[in-house]
Amino acid sequence: MTEEQTQASPITIALSKGRILKETLPLLEQAGIVPAEDIHTSRKLIFETNLPDVRLIVIRATDVPTYVEYGVADLGVSGKDVLLEHGAQDMYELLDLRISRCRLMTAALRGHCMPEGRMRVATKFVNVARRYFADQGRQVDIIKLYGGMELAPIMDLADCIVDIVDTGGTLLANGLEPLEHIHDVSTRLVASRAGYKTKSARLQPIVERLHKAVQVSA
Ligand code: ATP
Ligand code: PRP
Repeated sequence: MTEEQTQASPITIALSKGRILKETLPLLEQAGIVPAEDIHTSRKLIFETNLPDVRLIVIRATDVPTYVEYGVADLGVSGKDVLLEHGAQDMYELLDLRISRCRLMTAALRGHCMPEGRMRVATKFVNVARRYFADQGRQVDIIKLYGGMELAPIMDLADCIVDIVDTGGTLLANGLEPLEHIHDVSTRLVASRAGYKTKSARLQPIVERLHKAVQVSA
């Protein structure tokens, strides 16, 4: 893209659908960005906003870093868990939006004795888990799952899980207990390093307004 085309193109913000979206929209509104139609009831994936040069795309939480990394979204709203799992190396973390706060933890059946040898770990956060246990020099077999991780220890598919814990209610309801804290999680505003440089004059005011919105909501 030429410099002229870059400046003329709309600013695209990639939003994570699901629970993050519900908490992101009030922040965006506080920052003066309002979708032109109701995102919750629409099947569309791209939304114009009240600002002629700002549009929103609404995608799966795990896809947000990819859209930002490839520069097709200028800004992204993504959970720290997703960023850690993705790697997100060529990205700036511009703001902590302080929403959807939770923790990445290990958990196991209450009173479960861990094996002497390799431990079986079920998770959708395979990279986070691999790094965490490797840093501690612990030998593990990682079993990739896509949800409902709490079931794996119950069915003896795994000795423990690596998953999101918020209230702890899901662990409790399934007879598991939280064990080791891996990382605090909250939702972050990210930008690709390259993209942020080329459009910084247009992106900075948005980031500043969102920063104020976070402070007001804190
Ligand atoms: P996908 O549908 O792409 O697999 P998902 O099912 O993980 O994503 P959500 O459950 O909406 O999607 O969670 C999105 C993000 O919200 C997570 O990446 C995490 O940052 C945060 N999150 C997940 N569970 C909780 C929770 N129980 N409490 C608070 N925040 C959470
Ligand atoms: C998330 C996470 C835990 C639960 C933790 O699941 O995977 O299961 O929330 O929250 P709690 O500590 O407050 O109980 P989610 O509801 O997103 O379903 P999922 O199995 O599709 O990930």
